[in-house]
Amino acid sequence: MSKPIYVLNGPNLNLLGVREPTVYGKATLEQVRELCEARADAFGRKVVFRQTNHEGELIDWVQEAREQACALVLNPAGYGHTSVSLLDALRTLPIPVVECHLSNPAAREHFRRHSFVALAAAGTISGFGPLSYELAVDAALRLCGAVRAA
Ligand code: DQA
Repeated sequence: MSKPIYVLNGPNLNLLGVREPTVYGKATLEQVRELCEARADAFGRKVVFRQTNHEGELIDWVQEAREQACALVLNPAGYGHTSVSLLDALRTLPIPVVECHLSNPAAREHFRRHSFVALAAAGTISGFGPLSYELAVDAALRLCGAVRAA
């Protein structure tokens, strides 16, 4: 049985759909989860999709992904800009990490331009709304070897 792709979401993403819709869009996190599951399902992979508002819980899940996942898609939300501990946890992973954002942090406030997560990620996909997640799952599938490179 192949390992699943973990898709982990940080703080405030539970409020997608009502939270600053002009920035983050109208899709809910549940809808984003369905998109990720459909993408992975097309290639026979499962997704473990979770959200937390707590830094320690996010780190616990990253540690769990060490052994349980074939790749990690991570939208760290605000913790991406602040959390050295999250970076330290990501650096223990033997699996690829794809950083994912709905908005394009590089085009927003200055403090969003730095990402601790980027230092441990294979790559970052941002700015495409829910499509960012689909593209990130696609990248994770490729990095897992579930989809062959062209
Ligand atoms: C976000 C971008 C972050 O800067 C912000 O703190 C979030 C959401 C995004 O998906 O666009 O909470 O990660």
